[in-house]
Amino acid sequence: MSDDPLKKLIAAIRASQNYGAVSQTLIESVGLSELNKRSSLKEAIKSTKNKLHQVGGAYLDQSLPYGQWIDKLRAVQGDSSRVQALCLEYMEKHASTRERLPILETFYPTLFHLLPPIRRIIDLACGLNPLALPWMPLPAGASYRAYDIYGDMTDFAGGFIHLWGMDGGGFCRDILNDPPPDEADLTLLLKAIPCLEQISKDAGKRLLDSIRSPWLIVSFPITSLGGREKGMRTHYEAHFETLTAGRGWVLQKVSFTTELVFVVRTNDGA
Ligand SMILES: C[S@@+](CC[C@H](N)C(=O)[O-])C[C@H]1O[C@@H](n2cnc3c(N)ncnc32)[C@H](O)[C@@H]1O
Repeated sequence: MSDDPLKKLIAAIRASQNYGAVSQTLIESVGLSELNKRSSLKEAIKSTKNKLHQVGGAYLDQSLPYGQWIDKLRAVQGDSSRVQALCLEYMEKHASTRERLPILETFYPTLFHLLPPIRRIIDLACGLNPLALPWMPLPAGASYRAYDIYGDMTDFAGGFIHLWGMDGGGFCRDILNDPPPDEADLTLLLKAIPCLEQISKDAGKRLLDSIRSPWLIVSFPITSLGGREKGMRTHYEAHFETLTAGRGWVLQKVSFTTELVFVVRTNDGA
């Protein structure tokens, strides 16, 4: 085995059940920073796993049976109400989409009503949100590209995107250290800023700097993962205003019961 501590750390994380499918770029960047802070390889491995838990694992109930899910979805392909019933069941398994279920019927229609016709979407740090495609008012032939750090999740998301008849796909990628270069009409950055700011304080700014679409939908949670409110709506509204100050972007705030959303005209790539 190699003597390089970073290589050893990556091998240990890759061998773990929970983080084996996580993007190599993210493991490397978190691992390097933890190796610089900790006194032993063992501690650095433990704290790397803790960080990966904070930004990803904490949202998932357990390792999810994506293979079975895609088989079940394929078996009902073409019957949209049965596909939607399965999507609702699976979206329960990620804390972030679970929280959105009570508002799902109105969420995308309300937001898309504020936008011009959209054909190309990028969903950054998507989680299981591609399963909400049946609730998005999109034209036939639209394209949807979804990114997250779990390769098994993004393979599944890509499978579903195609099964739902859209172009695009699911891609395993660390959107902070390796933002996708694609141009789009709309970028979704849903509840991702507070999550990624746990890895790097300037993550919000860096993510917004990387946006390449004329329209952007950004959202924030209004309760913690444990369910507490703690004034998060006011806090994140002020935070987003600070992050966007001086960019010349036009913000429209839309407040849902479980989520604070901004529809943003960026003029980038327009
Ligand atoms: C709060 S959840 C939001 C999920 C989804 N956007 C939604 O609102 O339903 C944060 C997501 O960010 C993903 N994530 C964390 N760090 C990431 C990174 N560096 N690059 C891409 N995705 C990341 C996690 O795996 C998780 O699915």
